[in-house]
Amino acid sequence: MLALIAASGCGLDDPPVQPSWQVDVMPVLAANCVRCHTYPTIGFAAPGLRMDSYDAVEVVAFDAPIDGAAHNATLIAQRIQYSKYRPGETVMPPGRELGDYEIGVLRNWAGLVDGSLKAPRGAGRSDNAPPELTLEEIGRNGVLVMFRYEVRDRDRDLVVGNLRGPRKKGNEVTGVVADLVSGRGTFTIDLTDVPAGSYELVARLDDGADIDGPDGTNDFIEISAGMLVVP
Ligand code: HEC
Repeated sequence: MLALIAASGCGLDDPPVQPSWQVDVMPVLAANCVRCHTYPTIGFAAPGLRMDSYDAVEVVAFDAPIDGAAHNATLIAQRIQYSKYRPGETVMPPGRELGDYEIGVLRNWAGLVDGSLKAPRGAGRSDNAPPELTLEEIGRNGVLVMFRYEVRDRDRDLVVGNLRGPRKKGNEVTGVVADLVSGRGTFTIDLTDVPAGSYELVARLDDGADIDGPDGTNDFIEISAGMLVVP
């Protein structure tokens, strides 16, 4: 392996020329940016983008999805180094400089932004393990149903997504009922005005893998999480 790398003329410290989101980019953002640039953002970071996701993600609170890192690859590459063209801007992450390797990964990725204005997802890990979800109802209080969940990933990838199920908004009786990210959490589904019936709960989770080939945009897995009965 080492001999091969030496023979091809690149050292261990050279960033990949065509970085993959799952393998190269996500770990850099996870280690250096996501603690502030997640959803919701922390510490006054700009709320219009999240760096724990490649793609835009629909969230419970808004009707519009929140953009992921792919739409912001150029902006990200611009903010990680000082620029005389943008003298007033804080270099990211605040108070600490990224290493040359990390800067190289993010800059090379931004260099791949194409006509779709997004940086490509690229190939994922060839032996990728898909994310897993455990969901449990823990109580009801009138129209409110409380749940506990855990999202796991054997590769330790950041996982983002949402849960769809019954909720009344305008004319629709189903939609996004919870935001899901790696780890454990709780949420409440409000069944006000939802007609009686049995509704499927379906999670859409993205661990960074390319699910449907380089040209597809449905890169999430769907997991059925059981039925929710509305009396
Ligand atoms: C300690 C919290 C923190 C960390 C860590 C952090 N940021 Fe930020 N970031 C902020 C804050 C606060 C702002 C808004 C103020 C500003 O624009 O300078 C911001 C703004 C930005 C913006 C501008 C967003 C816009 O809509 O204009 C980008 C791009 C950005 N950060 C990228 C990064 C990247 C890439 C990393 C990791 C390498 C990172 N940040 C790490 C707090 C953080």
